[in-house]
Amino acid sequence: MTDKAIVEERQGEVFTGDKKTSSGKLFYIESYGCQMNFSDSEIVASILGEANYHPTPNLDDADLVLINTCSIREKAEETVRKRLRVFEKSLADKPGSLVGVLGCMAERLKNKLLEEEKLVDLVVGPDAYRDLPTLLADADEGNRGVNVFLSREETYADISPVRLNSSGVTAFISIMRGCDNMCSFCVVPYTRGRERSRDPFSIVAEASDLFERGYREVTLLGQNVDSYSWTREGIPQVSFANLLAMVADIHPLLRIRFSTSHPKDITDQVLHTIARYPNICKYIHLPVQSGSSRVLKLMNRTYDQAWYKNKIDRIYELVPDCAISSDIIAGFCSETEADHEETLNIMRYARYSMSYMFMYSERPGTPAAKKYADDVPLEEKKRRLQGVIALQNELSRQHNRKDVGQSFEILIEGDSKRSKEYFKGRNSQNKMVVFRKIPGFKPGDYTKVTIKDATSATLIGVVADKTVEVAMPQ
Ligand code: SAH
Ligand code: SF4
Ligand code: F3S
Repeated sequence: MTDKAIVEERQGEVFTGDKKTSSGKLFYIESYGCQMNFSDSEIVASILGEANYHPTPNLDDADLVLINTCSIREKAEETVRKRLRVFEKSLADKPGSLVGVLGCMAERLKNKLLEEEKLVDLVVGPDAYRDLPTLLADADEGNRGVNVFLSREETYADISPVRLNSSGVTAFISIMRGCDNMCSFCVVPYTRGRERSRDPFSIVAEASDLFERGYREVTLLGQNVDSYSWTREGIPQVSFANLLAMVADIHPLLRIRFSTSHPKDITDQVLHTIARYPNICKYIHLPVQSGSSRVLKLMNRTYDQAWYKNKIDRIYELVPDCAISSDIIAGFCSETEADHEETLNIMRYARYSMSYMFMYSERPGTPAAKKYADDVPLEEKKRRLQGVIALQNELSRQHNRKDVGQSFEILIEGDSKRSKEYFKGRNSQNKMVVFRKIPGFKPGDYTKVTIKDATSATLIGVVADKTVEVAMPQ
């Protein structure tokens, strides 16, 4: 991954699969933001399928154009506005087609979006996707509609997502929605509502079904997976550690990943479960945000530097081969050069394999916007971000260099981007590995690869063992 890719918002992704030829209408969907949003687009596709709308990769063919949006930083919202201008142009000679804004920006701006964006017919928040068919019918009659109702219960547990752009090997599964933490910089609690956990049996059923269809890796998604908790009368409480074990027990050939872990909530029980199951990946995304206890307090992250370091120690103690990654914000309100240095120090301490790194972007309505001045000058934010990126590149290079000479079990995901003669896949530590194809192997197979070379972003290897490795729980 280049520096640029690390700091940029995830680019809009368009469904690129086959166009359905059956009767019914066609929808085109673009998704922005976090994995949760990409996962939601697959729920939307399922709900629309029931209403006889089918996905198309071509904007020009679409009766319905949807954009699933992100509000996390100002730039994410600007990108969406730009895309709406592009849609406006391409749809100018197609009267009758409908445009809908979904996701976090819909939730944040509500009716204002209809006022500001004349092109938009529908504004639908993350908990209101079941209402899409009704809103579409109304919009067909000329009534522009908004549903941004945030639910305390909705988890879409019974909806079987339509996998868009799937490799057929890896898939996301949402295990919870919303967030009850109030990190002062963050808009998510306002756009996604209260935290709620999904029925674990529906999660296991979805993962089992994916496995039977040939998928070999599932990523369990939530804003704070460690606070997953499901209780029903007569059934003992299911914690995140319990859930991990339930999904890992489906089959030793099904790999489990999860994101995002919160330093305040990750437990020893979770770490022991990761250590016990070879098919639970040895990779934890544990965003630190800042290394300075003073800044962490202003961010309302509810842990300090010492607590975070302790968690890092515990992870490396209980899961020695674990890779840890992070999210980092440069230039938060009142951040000094000394605070910034502490962020660099904690990065070195944690030995991150990779990080997502951002400049602080004030979001209207958040506690930080209300209470603190966004007082680090842009040039200074940029400089600090560059420092963070340069250090992470060096840490990633060191991390990857240590892998040279070692062998890893790789799940083959498909052709490498650069050459059809190479496969790409990941090791348990979530590192992308590229290696020359050998006959008899296909995406979805596991193979042992010895690493010969490494950059800061990719490992390059050769197939070491032509038998498929099956890891069994100990
Ligand atoms: N739930 C996850 C993160 C979700 S948002 C967690 O708690 O770690 C993904 C990342 O975006 C955050 O970790 C943070 O680093 C970044 N982010 C969130 N709000 C931001 C803001 N206002 N400005 C810059 N970066 C922000
Ligand atoms: Fe935002 Fe904090 Fe919740 Fe993550 S844990 S989504 S950063 S409020
Ligand atoms: Fe963005 Fe919403 Fe995800 S704000 S990061 S799409 S939860």
